[in-house]
Amino acid sequence: MELKSIFTGLSGTLAGLTVGVMVAFGSAQAAEEEGGTPHYPIEHPKHVHWSFGGPFGHWDVGQLQRGLKVYKEVCSACHSLNLVAFRNLEELGYSEEQVKAFAAEYTVTDGPNAEGEMFDRAAVPSDRFPAPFPNEEAAAYANNGAAPPDFSLLAKARAPERGFPTFIFDIFTLYAENGPDYIYSLLTGYQDAPEGTDVPDGSHYNPYFVGGPTLAMAPPLSEEIVSYDDGSPETVDQYARDVAAFMMWAAEPSLVERKSLGFKVMIALLLLAILFYLSKKAVWSALYNEGSASAGRAAPAPAMAAVGSAPRAGVDFIDDIELIDGIGATIAKRMKSKGINSLAKIAAMSVAELDKLGEAVNARNRPVREEWQVQARELIAGKPPRAAIDRAKVEKLLGKKF
Ligand code: HEC
Repeated sequence: MELKSIFTGLSGTLAGLTVGVMVAFGSAQAAEEEGGTPHYPIEHPKHVHWSFGGPFGHWDVGQLQRGLKVYKEVCSACHSLNLVAFRNLEELGYSEEQVKAFAAEYTVTDGPNAEGEMFDRAAVPSDRFPAPFPNEEAAAYANNGAAPPDFSLLAKARAPERGFPTFIFDIFTLYAENGPDYIYSLLTGYQDAPEGTDVPDGSHYNPYFVGGPTLAMAPPLSEEIVSYDDGSPETVDQYARDVAAFMMWAAEPSLVERKSLGFKVMIALLLLAILFYLSKKAVWSALYNEGSASAGRAAPAPAMAAVGSAPRAGVDFIDDIELIDGIGATIAKRMKSKGINSLAKIAAMSVAELDKLGEAVNARNRPVREEWQVQARELIAGKPPRAAIDRAKVEKLLGKKF
């Protein structure tokens, strides 16, 4: 009786669990179907054409200067740029004097002085951009609880994955622009939240944000908020491009050099691979082609006149396998016991057969290495034997000088 009640209780619990899991699963599915995507960013970043994209990219110095201006006049109110020193701006085409004047517009805290006090002074080129807030807490407090991230590495830190198979192609096109793509998309991507999306006070809907449907930054850009003196359009779109490019430069000033070096290395490796392949072919062709038998394929049959042991009319050669340099009396005897008794038989062998023969007569690898086959064909063609002693013998037998 007791046992039965335990069992019923257990199966009841199990059934309850199963139903619970099914309900949870079902509701998760329902949420997904209702459009509550649990995956951010909701929209993939737009793909922008950047001057620094690809292996032949270059910085558009004019664009970087405009981006600096946007940063200085808009973003720097909230975002720091802790790792960039004023003197780095010389890379944007500014002279030392211009950088000095630019730095002097900022005030930095220095010290302590002889009295142990910190003091303020005008910035110099070796100083870094001062942060807008004294610390992270102050930054968060002033921005609805979310501290604006530092810009120094942001363009590299925010690089949403592009997924398969795009990332494979990205390797070959040296694509490294997810960061600026993302920043551009975020800055131009503010829009009205779709019905049913919860937008808390002080946050703003943006489907490009990686952290969720809304973020704490209000749209920072609007038309004509920054004046350009090079005639570029003073639009949100242009500002977003320029500041994103500037942030990419700040995060990786050597991006262009890195990519062009990488490309050269890839080309060099490719050339090297071709070279290795060709030299491999050249080295091995001596073994496979000269013997005129690539593995497994028999060499073309030599003239029938060569078969036999005595010279015949019109063909001046002696059919003696011992005339091959490398075959002495002992090996010749072993070969003959295997039925290899003429130059023609050696000349007609495949490489595999030559190898086997070498094993059989206790002269491993030598048939190929010592070119027994090439020698046999030379002798059949009436050429002199390679060894001087054999040559003398043949000259005597044939009654002629080579
Ligand atoms: C009024 C203050 C303020 C200004 C001005 C401002 N931002 Fe922000 N920004 C923020 C805050 C706050 C966050 C953090 C948002 C969050 O995490 O919800 C943020 C976050 C960001 C992010 C990171 C988003 C992410 O993926 O985490 C980027 C990029 C960004 N801002 C770019 C800019 C640019 C470019 C400008 C200038 C055109 C700018 N911001 C101006 C306050 C500001």
